[in-house]
Order: sequence, then structure tokens, then C-alpha cells
Amino acid sequence: MTGTINPKVIYLPTAAIQRAVRRYPTPFFLYEEQRIRENCRRFRDTFRKYFPSFAPLYAVKANTNPSLLKIIFSEGFGADASSEAEAWITRRLGGCGMYTGNYTTPEEFQFVLKTGGFQLNLDDISMLPTIRRLGAPEFLSFRVNPGLSQGGMKSLFLAGPDAKYGVPLEDIAAAYRQARSLGVKRFGIHAMTGSNVLDKTYFAAVAAKLLQIVARINREAGIVIERLNIGGGFGVPYRPEQKSLDLEAVARGVRQAFDAQCARYGITEPILMAEPGRCIMADTGWLIGRVHVIKNSQKTFVGIDAGMNDLPRPAIYDAYHQVTVLGKPLRGVVKKVNVVGRLCENNDQFARDRMLPVVKVGDFLVIHNAGAHAFAMAHNYNNRLRSAEYLLTRRGIMCRIRRAETIRDLFRNSAIPHCSRRGRSSERSVS
Ligand SMILES: Cc1ncc(COP(=O)(O)O)c(C=O)c1O
Repeated sequence: MTGTINPKVIYLPTAAIQRAVRRYPTPFFLYEEQRIRENCRRFRDTFRKYFPSFAPLYAVKANTNPSLLKIIFSEGFGADASSEAEAWITRRLGGCGMYTGNYTTPEEFQFVLKTGGFQLNLDDISMLPTIRRLGAPEFLSFRVNPGLSQGGMKSLFLAGPDAKYGVPLEDIAAAYRQARSLGVKRFGIHAMTGSNVLDKTYFAAVAAKLLQIVARINREAGIVIERLNIGGGFGVPYRPEQKSLDLEAVARGVRQAFDAQCARYGITEPILMAEPGRCIMADTGWLIGRVHVIKNSQKTFVGIDAGMNDLPRPAIYDAYHQVTVLGKPLRGVVKKVNVVGRLCENNDQFARDRMLPVVKVGDFLVIHNAGAHAFAMAHNYNNRLRSAEYLLTRRGIMCRIRRAETIRDLFRNSAIPHCSRRGRSSERSVS
């Protein structure tokens, strides 16, 4: 396999992880600040080379830890938020950006408008009456469903007939006309059509399609689109044999699409925006668990103290994550094992039939690409607790940026019936 191994997939800050496991109880996440900054700069600067006014946003949903958001915002990224909490934390950190809800309630719109700092991106024409009631903003964008889609797996295809997102093309001109009649003065367009795309030609195709729609809106409604957001979805390799997305080729392709379509339709070039999550954060984080049980059954099951509640992607999407046994290189004697967590779910398996160096109880296993859509998707099923998060700063200092949950955290909001001495129950909060 050597020669085809992608160093980005197998990269580990080994010394830092070894330091961390000596200091902190497992399981935990570790992130590397330097890598986050490098990913931000690579993305921002590659697009700025071709689009000097390029305006990058970061998809907050990929990883919402405030300390990490602060780093990303300090690299010149705005926020792509899609829930009240994401809008709230962005504002608390002094950020601003675009708000893309879907099936949004009036209360949610109200919250975001009150929070301030966000341009609204509507998912459907049917939301306009709510916007009218709340007061039309000066700028409004629509998320369209342009028909084309791609993704790392079927469940990550986010446009086309089966997708719940975006204004259908037949409504698009009417949507902009109606928005204008409410008093909106300036307009944007947005699409988010798929996630974890590694095809370098895809983003140019999305841009070309959006520019065709921009021309149609201009022709049918006489509206000029100022901002064009091609969404996120920039893939990262999860398997060592996968190639990284060639961002330079992506940006160049989008530039060519802009040149060709703007000339073809005679439209003014909109400001380009994008809102990556995964390609900023995925390879900057690792989940570390300790081996507690090795069961030799029909297969060998290696049980660690982390689980699908920490990183649900393998359970939800059957997604592949590289696993390293800390301090044991993948050479010499290897054994086929399943790496599993402690939840009462048979899909609580991080890796199936994976060749790993011979593992012993007490070894530490590192799950790679755990920086994006990992902790952010963590949950409490089986009343398992969310793990702590640590950051290795640029200066080499290790900081705790979120403590691990406690059992009390889990029941903080519950009324706990209390059995009094006489056997009657009363309600008491644990906090
Ligand atoms: C609207 C929107 N924008 C951006 C993203 C970020 O996608 P990715 O992490 O694949 O870049 C998502 C992810 O689901 C999304 O729904």
C-alpha cells in the first residue's frame, strides 16, 4: 500500500497525543490549532487568487466548539449558521454571516433577526409571508435546488428530486419577484448540493448552473444577484488510498465557469461565497479511546471506551475512519479486528474487519478525521456522556476547551421523583 498512502489521512501529532493520554482520562478529542489555521488559509487564499473579493464562511455545524470557532473567525471566515444556537454563539464571538435554515419556524426567524449580523437565506418561497410579517430585510438570498448533486455517499446527496432542501427551479423567478415586492433591495443565491465531494470538476458545474439561474432571474424578474454562494461539500480523504481534493483546480474551474457564463449571458459577476465545514476541520481532530476489552468470538472485537455517541458517522453512514494504535506502526504482525464501543447497539462499530497491529488491553486507539461532523453529531443515547475536547495551541500548550459531561449534566433538566420516607413521591431537580 505504500506509495498510495495519503499523508493527510494518516497524520498524527503523536507526541502531543502521548502527552495527552498521560494527563487526561479517555475518551477525548484533541484538535490542532496550527492545522486549523493552515486549512483556513489554504481555502481562503486559493479562492482569493481567482476571486479577490471571495467571501468565505465556515459551516458552524461541522464543529461548534467556541474556541475553535474563534480561531476560524480570526482567519477571516464568517459563519454559515443553521440553528438559533449556531447564530447565538457566532454573535457571542463577534462573528456574522449567513443564516440557512430549512423548514424554519417564525420563532426561529424572529430569533435570528433579533440576534442580528446574519443575511437570511430562505429555503422556500412559502417562507416569504413570515418574512413580510417580521419586516423584510434589505438583503435576502434563496437556496435553490438546482437538480444536480454529488456526495461521498448517497445520504450526502443534498439536491435533486429526493432532497428536502432548496427552492424548486420552477418557483425561483417568482420567489425573487415576491421578495422584491416586500421591499427587499439586494439579493443573493445559494446552493448546497452535496457533502464530501472529491471530484474537482463538480464545483465548477455547480457554479455554472447557478450562474445560468442568475441569468434567468435577471431575464424573468429584472433582478441582479450580488452574491453567489456555492455552499460547502469540499471533500477530504478518509481512506489512506484516497487523493485529496485539488483545491487549486477547483478554484480555477469555478473561475472558468464564471468567465464563460457571465460572458454568455451578459450578467454582472456576483461576489463568490462558499461555506466549507469538513475541509476546514476534519483532519485537525482525533478521537482517542483506550482499549478495555478484547473479545475473541467469531471475530475479534476490540472494545474501547469511546463509542458511536462520540462519533456517529460510522454508525449512521457506514463511514470509514482510519484507526491507529498509538505507538504501534502498521508493520509486522497485524490482525483483523472490529473496533467497537460500549453502546447497546450493534452498529456501534468504528471499524469492521480492519487490519491493525496486535492490540492489547490498555493500548490507546486514535480515530482520525474526527474534527468535523464528529463531536458536533455526538449524542447521549444509552445515557453515554459526551467526551472532553482539548486543543493543542500554536505554542504547543494543551488546553481543555470543553469538559466531559457528567451524569448530573444529563439529568439537569429532568424532574427526578423523590421517594420520601412515607413512600410518597415529590419532584426535585438534581442541579
Ligand atoms: C447548508 C450547508 N452548508 C454547508 C455545509 C458544510 O458541508 P461540508 O462540511 O461538507 O463542507 C452543510 C453540511 O451539511 C450544509 O448543510
